[in-house]
Amino acid sequence: MILTPNSHNLLLAANHLKAGNVVAIPTETVYGLAADAMNPSAVKKIYELKQRPSHNPLIVHLASFGDIATWARKIPDSAKRLAEKFWPGPLTLVLPKQRHVPSIVTGGQDTVALRVPSHPITQQLLAYFGGGLAAPSANPYTRLSPTTAHHVASYFDESLWIVDGGPTIVGIESTIVACLDNGITILRSGMLSAEQIIDTAQCPVLKNSTKIQSPGQAALHYAPRKPLALFSISNLSNFLAQYSEKPIGLIHYSDMNPLPNRWQHLQLPPSPEGYAQRLYAALHHFDQSSCELIMLELPPREPEYEAIFDRIQRAVGKT
Ligand code: TXA
Ligand code: MG
Repeated sequence: MILTPNSHNLLLAANHLKAGNVVAIPTETVYGLAADAMNPSAVKKIYELKQRPSHNPLIVHLASFGDIATWARKIPDSAKRLAEKFWPGPLTLVLPKQRHVPSIVTGGQDTVALRVPSHPITQQLLAYFGGGLAAPSANPYTRLSPTTAHHVASYFDESLWIVDGGPTIVGIESTIVACLDNGITILRSGMLSAEQIIDTAQCPVLKNSTKIQSPGQAALHYAPRKPLALFSISNLSNFLAQYSEKPIGLIHYSDMNPLPNRWQHLQLPPSPEGYAQRLYAALHHFDQSSCELIMLELPPREPEYEAIFDRIQRAVGKT
């Protein structure tokens, strides 16, 4: 059930969460499947809905930096600097957890992932709810993350409450940074670049060690069900020769000459922000269309597209 985000519905959604239910919420990155992070039986429902392995921990969403000490027992200066600069926003910090944080949220680890989302509707919902919301992306395990309420609705049955916050602005998942005593580790790239993170954290950058487990990063993720092929303008003519009679869904950012009649296409904006914002929606669109193959134009090999490349590699199954 998709809810219009007025105050009345947001109060209802907050009460539904307090009663131990799951509600899908918008964030600026992707939609999340939220539950009361202090209620293990509510959090268990998220894992069941997503069919996600229980050792894969969840991000706790907070109203503001002021709530962080309830969840983290140590807040290194690097984390303070990052939070001050980028919260509310698409940044998740992994910190040593407080003892009372339920282990179902942290996958049994000694750390907890925290994020203050900037989406105004989720900010209002968090204010009504008055606590932390554990929320992974609102897709079944290994499927594409949703960037609209309708994407979420297409994955789950009618009984799931979904707060409609419109299409998400960032479009891909948050940058995840572990901040431990001796330095920071970037566990997942995002639209906040490594350079921005490193400049702000002002501390040593450690390569990921076995000490920090981020199981979600190992899995095949964000994949459409239809076969996905990557192309650049220089090899498009090969595809044209091979597939001109087939129904193809083409996602591109370069301007194209007229394409074969049986091909449909969607053009993404030619900027990293625009490409990221619309990438999943374009993949969802063709995944649900009658095309047999999705073809995606590789973006330019520039640092601003690093996180986009990461998601594209996962979508084609090269993790
Ligand atoms: O943008 C986002 O981060 C979205 C929105 C809804 O906030 N959420 C999201 O959650 O992408 P999810 O569960 O799909 O991805 C979270 C990732 C997983 O790969 C998980 O393994 C990692 O964060 N993670 C969570 N807690 C962790 C921890 N304590 N240590 C290391 N990695 C952790
Ligand atoms: Mg996810």
